[in-house]
Amino acid sequence: MRVISENPIGVFDSGIGGLTVVRALMERLPFEDIIYFGDTARVPYGVKSVSTISSFATQITEFLLQHQVKMLIIACNTIAAVASQVVQDLSSVPVLNVINAGAQTAAKITRNKQVGILGTPATINSNAYVRAIHEADNHIHVTTQACPLFVPLVEEGWLDHPVTRLTAQEYLKPVLAEKIDTLVLGCTHYPLLKPILSEIAGESIRLVDSAITVAHETADLLLANGMAQLSSREPNYLYFVTDVPLRFQSVGERFLGRSLENVKVVNW
Ligand code: DGL
Repeated sequence: MRVISENPIGVFDSGIGGLTVVRALMERLPFEDIIYFGDTARVPYGVKSVSTISSFATQITEFLLQHQVKMLIIACNTIAAVASQVVQDLSSVPVLNVINAGAQTAAKITRNKQVGILGTPATINSNAYVRAIHEADNHIHVTTQACPLFVPLVEEGWLDHPVTRLTAQEYLKPVLAEKIDTLVLGCTHYPLLKPILSEIAGESIRLVDSAITVAHETADLLLANGMAQLSSREPNYLYFVTDVPLRFQSVGERFLGRSLENVKVVNW
């Protein structure tokens, strides 16, 4: 496939959570076209098996490659954790993922070498974040915590709710006991919980938002390879989903921080 700077960036996720990555990309790379794929009919992936997640990831990758994307971004931490190799092997274009971006940033900014990771059960069980952080620096002590209740709480819109606060306090208790100075938000949904999480964690702990770090990595990659869309223009955004669930528009706009238009349903 011929890679040209005019082609869109392909971004995919298990559902609409990956719109946090799209939002960060829109801010960092305002002239780039973006095609987003959210598997809203089959979300959540975070509680599914490795083989199921891998076969879904294969299907989505093939779909986006057919749409002539110039690169792929795995916006879903769960897919990145268990199926990033599957995606790489299929792809004729560069692939970035939120885990490598978040892990590298955490390894760079920790001072006391104590890092905490929050994620879905599939992400935490895969150990992918621990491996990625140890690749950068194997002296870092990593504490992980699966937070299965966060995704439904965020989708419910309970971003500043007593139930969410209590849940976060419970999840963070063992992680904070390790005296971490850096906390990775290892799931698409967690950036929306930043205010509550930073309040509980305290000012001394830095939160790593993988959506922002992968957007910066994307800009670096496109510029280094002469693939960036540099001229000032109105970008095209196209969203593919496998289902349009109730409250799709309002939840999606919360993630994106702007109106959600050009949504197409793919019938698989
Ligand atoms: N997108 C998933 C992630 O980042 C969260 C939702 C899910 O479980 O599918 O891990």
